[in-house]
Amino acid sequence: MDIRIAPSILSADYAVLAEEVRRVGAEADMIHIDVMDGHFVPNLTIGPPVVASLRRHTDRFLDCHLMVDRPDQLLGPLAEAGADGASVHVELGDPTSLVARMRELGLQAGLVVNPGTPIEAALPYLHLVDLLLVMSVQPGRGGQSFIPDVLTKVERARRFVDEEGLPVALQIDGGINEETARDAAAAGVDILVAGSAIYGAADPRAAARRIREAAGGGRGAATPDAEEADVR
Ligand code: DX5
Ligand code: ZN
Repeated sequence: MDIRIAPSILSADYAVLAEEVRRVGAEADMIHIDVMDGHFVPNLTIGPPVVASLRRHTDRFLDCHLMVDRPDQLLGPLAEAGADGASVHVELGDPTSLVARMRELGLQAGLVVNPGTPIEAALPYLHLVDLLLVMSVQPGRGGQSFIPDVLTKVERARRFVDEEGLPVALQIDGGINEETARDAAAAGVDILVAGSAIYGAADPRAAARRIREAAGGGRGAATPDAEEADVR
């Protein structure tokens, strides 16, 4: 399967988000939006109103990573705002009802596992979801170093998903750069989230392309010069 790149706008300039999304152009397969409530993690970021604003500027898949205590309160407003998918942490407990709510709202459903949480905590729920996000840093902020131990969890999840024949994409988030992207892809990841490695670069689009190529998912000359094409 082709590697997909999900730039995390956590490391972008929030004052000019539409422009920041445009800067990655066609190299962004989806836009990763870190929603933090100041409780589940200390940091506080953005919520439905900003997602609604961003929705007017891009038709890319908006992938919301919910680092919040009460995802149940946010799913409706996020769907209303135009989000395409939401991922909830398994550390909050059994996600069955949250996933059911996401289905009702037409959101793609994801489940997230923190670095310290065994992958076995998520496996029983994978038949319910579209995406498993394995955190490779402690959630809460960008620019941290990749925790290599999580790769064994990715390998375990890859085997499980393949053996069970589940249509679940494996995503990794935290400390992804050209080097760690290669390791993550080798472990079986489908979607690489990268914040600082993309938005900390002078040319975010070129940085995203290099990460894709490092992971073995180069699109070669087929990538259109479509910086404007995805912007409504
Ligand atoms: C961290 C967020 C990540 C963050 C990753 O809690 O979930 O999405 O943006 O940032 P980098 O790629 O800089 O580690
Ligand atoms: Zn994230």
